[in-house]
Amino acid sequence: MAGFAFRRGAHGPVNDLFSKVTIRHLSFGIHHSSMKVLVIGSGGREHALAWKLRQSPRVEQVFCLPGNGGICQEATCVPGDPKNIEGLLAAAHQIRPDITVVGPELPLSLGLVDEFTRRGLKIFGPTQAAAQLESSKSFAKEFMQRYNIPTAHYAVVTSEDELRKSLGLFATPLVVKADGLAAGKGVVIAQTKEEAAVAGAEMFSGKLLGAPVQRVVLEEFLVGDELSFLVLSDGDRVAPLVASQDHKRIGDGDTGANTGGMGAYSIDSLADPAMVEWLLNHIARPVVAGMKAEGAEYRGILYCGLMMTARGPMVLEFNCRFGDPETQAVLMRLDSDLLEAVEACVEGRVSDGVFKWSADASCCVVVAAGGYPGGYVSGKVIHGLERAAEMKDVKVFHAGTSKRDGQIYTSGGRVLGVTARAPKLQDAIAKAYEAADVIKFDEMYYRKDIGARALKAQK
Ligand code: AMP
Ligand code: GLY
Repeated sequence: MAGFAFRRGAHGPVNDLFSKVTIRHLSFGIHHSSMKVLVIGSGGREHALAWKLRQSPRVEQVFCLPGNGGICQEATCVPGDPKNIEGLLAAAHQIRPDITVVGPELPLSLGLVDEFTRRGLKIFGPTQAAAQLESSKSFAKEFMQRYNIPTAHYAVVTSEDELRKSLGLFATPLVVKADGLAAGKGVVIAQTKEEAAVAGAEMFSGKLLGAPVQRVVLEEFLVGDELSFLVLSDGDRVAPLVASQDHKRIGDGDTGANTGGMGAYSIDSLADPAMVEWLLNHIARPVVAGMKAEGAEYRGILYCGLMMTARGPMVLEFNCRFGDPETQAVLMRLDSDLLEAVEACVEGRVSDGVFKWSADASCCVVVAAGGYPGGYVSGKVIHGLERAAEMKDVKVFHAGTSKRDGQIYTSGGRVLGVTARAPKLQDAIAKAYEAADVIKFDEMYYRKDIGARALKAQK
């Protein structure tokens, strides 16, 4: 559990300065904690990345652009917009990071990695061309077909007329997906063909997403448990992260609207070694080899969103980045230096030994603002964070928070990711809920059943 404690004081500048000096002194001749790392993003995932990178003995300072109320307590937050590539270049010019780690997909799909690399700046993540695996669902589906990667049957259509004609190929329910990044709002599970036609029409017209889409993917509806299987790829070789499971619906029992993710857990039994090997051989390695063959080498995290069906695992989607909230749960189990893994990826030397995982289980409960994923109110004072911070093997990652006058306020839909680790999943879950219970703000909401199905299955 040693990797758990904050390496440096988390209680303000004075403490921080003091412990920095101490650590430097103690580690003299062993490590040079001289590296500067820049994390791009502002969510719970980025808090987890910044927290873990900061534990590296080689890291002197972590910057986060723009960060949030919690990240700012542990890293140096820099104002800016992750969508503004010019702004990010200017910030990097000022900060001079040794390496930049990108959290969200949008800057990747806008070509941030290409721009940084062109200027000789080290950056972790796929190029714009490689990020198409996430940014274009039709590209991903056609790619999977070319390389025989298991996925649902599908059709790509470019008009409402074509969509209606293709409906005959599918049974109900069926899935309608907008081609392009849609922040989780581009997927509709249609119970009837008429519903599918209407959803498709609204995607083409722009009514559903605010802007019209050029292409829509129709897909066979798959039944099974979802699994988030992520690998680190250097373009050639891959190393798996521990598997995890997200809970996408807002309500207990997987009911209600889709969200960005209401909680996640990670435990080895989600994918045994034989399953991991199968997923590497049939999905991760063929994807990486295929991208290389097509001249778009894939470097970074390849997130395979899977459905474990009766016909075997099938790919629902690829993401070109770490998951949120999976990262909060997964990094809680990482016992080795995340910086080493990130560097191995950028430098093309990923190997099996790049991650050392704990056998513990972990659980992240997302605490949201009431009303999310619909309208919600921000600016509520959050109480109890100090008490939660004192709890052993618990870490509260901030997502939608801001800090003003020493006080933390809510500032987004998903507010916190209360995360815990323990040898047994049931204890990790219990601890995460124990910590969530000491946190209070007006209209706070969280699901009560994160990991519950896994526990039931164990019995
Ligand atoms: P995606 O953004 O493609 O992962 O879709 C978001 C969510 O919709 C997934 O996490 C699944 O819960 C669900 N979904 C997507 N595609 C399918 C499918 N073919 N069958 C069943 N559910 C799906
Ligand atoms: N948790 C789902 C995602 O990161 O896309």
